[in-house]
Amino acid sequence: MATKNMSTALVCGAGGFIGGHLVKRLKREGFWVRGVDLKFPPFAETEADDFVVGDLRDQSFCRQITDRKFDEVYQLAADMGGAGYIFTGEHDADVMHNSATINLNMLDACQKRNVRGMFYSSSACMYPEYNQKDPDNPNCAEDSAYPAAPDSEYGWEKLFSERLYLAYNRNHGMRNRVARYHNIFGPEGTWEGGKEKAPAAVCRKVAQAASHGEVEIWGDGTQTRSFLYIDECLEGTIRLTRSDFEGPVNVGSEEMVTINQLVDLVSDIAGKKVIKKHIPGPLGVRGRNSDNRLIGQKLGWKPSATLRSGLEKTYEWIERQVRSNIRAAA
Ligand code: NAD
Ligand code: GDD
Repeated sequence: MATKNMSTALVCGAGGFIGGHLVKRLKREGFWVRGVDLKFPPFAETEADDFVVGDLRDQSFCRQITDRKFDEVYQLAADMGGAGYIFTGEHDADVMHNSATINLNMLDACQKRNVRGMFYSSSACMYPEYNQKDPDNPNCAEDSAYPAAPDSEYGWEKLFSERLYLAYNRNHGMRNRVARYHNIFGPEGTWEGGKEKAPAAVCRKVAQAASHGEVEIWGDGTQTRSFLYIDECLEGTIRLTRSDFEGPVNVGSEEMVTINQLVDLVSDIAGKKVIKKHIPGPLGVRGRNSDNRLIGQKLGWKPSATLRSGLEKTYEWIERQVRSNIRAAA
């Protein structure tokens, strides 16, 4: 049980990538933590003091898990994945229904339980497609969000939910905080199965490739992105949650690379020469990069770690998963 003076936190989505890491970070800070998810974290035992398995689409479950006082509430649960999941169109109805229901239920439960404020993880996918057509000059400044035109239903749901959290601030006096994450990566993230994002997919493909072997890349590889290492994501998340600024604000890296450059970096880390084979696949926007002027201004902080340093740790972890899968299959 939490002792009298211990801070308490609720992490929804604690069985997922960012939620699992956030629980560890809050435990290091001395919090009593309750984690909630449909499943336990797949790669490491949870460090949450209390882990409740259940479905946040169920309103009564949301009431049940908010039955005590929480100093901080992080809402990270969502139906999500990388380009192979959100851009095929096959999961649109589920993504919109599941994630919107979770957000509607959790906000209602927290407001009725007098929770002071919640952190909400939105996404750079809510930015309009028309500003992300030039891979060299994408515009993802926070004030470029409207007129809205996200290129995926996932992005539309994020935009709707951002507005929902901020409406609760205005109408119910809550202190909700909204971050727009830009492609977060690191160890213990999904690395196979169809929901993995480009950094994990590329690490896996390079780890599985023979030296001078082929690595399949969706598209021509000149599309651009920036990727943020998990530790920096947590730092930004916690700073925003504890600040007076409600957002929405980008939490991302400004180190934009092409997907071809991402492959080159990973193969250099792996010490392998690989041949890129460009194949058709779900692509998303042509270019995307975080714009960190606002976070710098409002929080006096912005991410600074290099992509390479994060990829070194991520590749090392994914390569180990690949090797242990091969051993298990033998
Ligand atoms: P993740 O898929 O690893 O974690 C999400 C977790 O939510 C999963 O463990 C899942 O089981 C849980 N969940 C889904 N539906 C649920 C339900 N009905 N009830 C209870 N739990 C449920 O994703 P992540 O990478 O950790 O992302 C966390 C949040 O950040 C999500 O909201 C995501 O949209 C957002 N985000 C992530 C990125 C990124 O690059 N990882 C980028 C932008 C935004
Ligand atoms: N996933 C993946 N796997 N992407 C690949 C691959 C591959 O094998 N090969 C090339 N790509 C390309 C995709 O086609 C896309 O153009 C680019 O790499 C980035 O893909 P992802 O990392 O899967 O997704 P994203 O950047 O388009 O969107 C992600 O970031 C958003 C926030 O910035 C997703 O994770 C969203 O859910 C997230 O909100």
